[in-house]
Amino acid sequence: MSDNKQTQGVRTVWWEDGASGAAVCLLDQSLLPQEVVYLRLKHEQEVADAIKTLKVRGAPAIGVAAAFGLALSLRRLMQEQDGALSLSAAQQHVHAIGELFSKTRPTAVNLFWAIERMLLCADIAIDNHATLQDLAHLLQGEAQSIANEDFDACMAMGNYGAELIADGDMLLTHCNAGALATAGWGTALAPMYVAHKAGKRIHVFVDETRPVLQGARLTAWELQQEGIPLTLITDSMVGHFMRLGGIKAVFVGADRVVANGDVANKIGTYSVAVLAHAHQIPFYVAAPSSTIDLDISSGDYIPIEQRNPEEVTSVRGIAIAPTGIQAANPAFDVTPHAYITAIITERGIVRPPYEEGLRRVCTDSRNHK
Ligand code: MRU
Repeated sequence: MSDNKQTQGVRTVWWEDGASGAAVCLLDQSLLPQEVVYLRLKHEQEVADAIKTLKVRGAPAIGVAAAFGLALSLRRLMQEQDGALSLSAAQQHVHAIGELFSKTRPTAVNLFWAIERMLLCADIAIDNHATLQDLAHLLQGEAQSIANEDFDACMAMGNYGAELIADGDMLLTHCNAGALATAGWGTALAPMYVAHKAGKRIHVFVDETRPVLQGARLTAWELQQEGIPLTLITDSMVGHFMRLGGIKAVFVGADRVVANGDVANKIGTYSVAVLAHAHQIPFYVAAPSSTIDLDISSGDYIPIEQRNPEEVTSVRGIAIAPTGIQAANPAFDVTPHAYITAIITERGIVRPPYEEGLRRVCTDSRNHK
């Protein structure tokens, strides 16, 4: 079984197996930056709730959390049933829990990709007459492999993306696509970490990212931990700072990249992309192959999560709008491929036209498993 690679720096989500049994551990991101609280979840329902309530968030991280949650659910049931669980009941159970996780959040394809991979692993093991103990061991190993592969993908995206950053560059990012959103160094922030560690002097403009403030609360926090200079701005300041000049490139992550290169990412990404285009600033998307969905032809067909309007009418529980008003809260938007300069993947940088390059990345990543 592969070991956990994420052993230092910001740890987002990981598996622990101690005297008190197995647990999915995570840093509760809903409390950052005021409180740094680690959770030890022992029931899959708690993991599903943590995904829904953004205690763990970011496309790769929720895939990893669901994979560990599935492995945990079998261990829990085996313990509860104390030897009475049949293999076919175990198979039914993991499929039902896969369904539970698939209902948590609709947009990030990494979630569905990870669930599918875990269920395939279970079905193959059962077809090959594995014992229940083998099955539990295999599921835990598969979840750990998903986490480890994400760690490696972040490293690779960091190395490719850092080539696009020069000494002295001022960069801009939206939402949080860093260590907190992955099992490694992040997607969009990984090139910044690599550039910074290589001695390049960079400065990052961080959009606050309303309504849930992933930029202000999470990206600012993790860049500060790494000693990377940053300036926090509200979302409405992006155009102003681009017009003043100085911002050399935008780096964002993705929740789903589809066949034609359209990208779903945190609400507000589209506006940043249009502004970057208007100011001739390169707009880079960093995403591992687990975020690429070739089954969807265009961004028009990506399911967009609609969240509770209270996230818009209040900030961290404090009302900022009259009670009773209507508010909209789409959590993601789609940036058409025409606004994207390049997509940084773990298998290299893909440039337009995207379809062929994205297909090559997905084929390559399957061949390397
Ligand atoms: O709602 P969130 O916080 O899960 O949204 C996260 C994003 O939009 C990230 O930019 C995306 O998942 C890429 S993370 C590497």
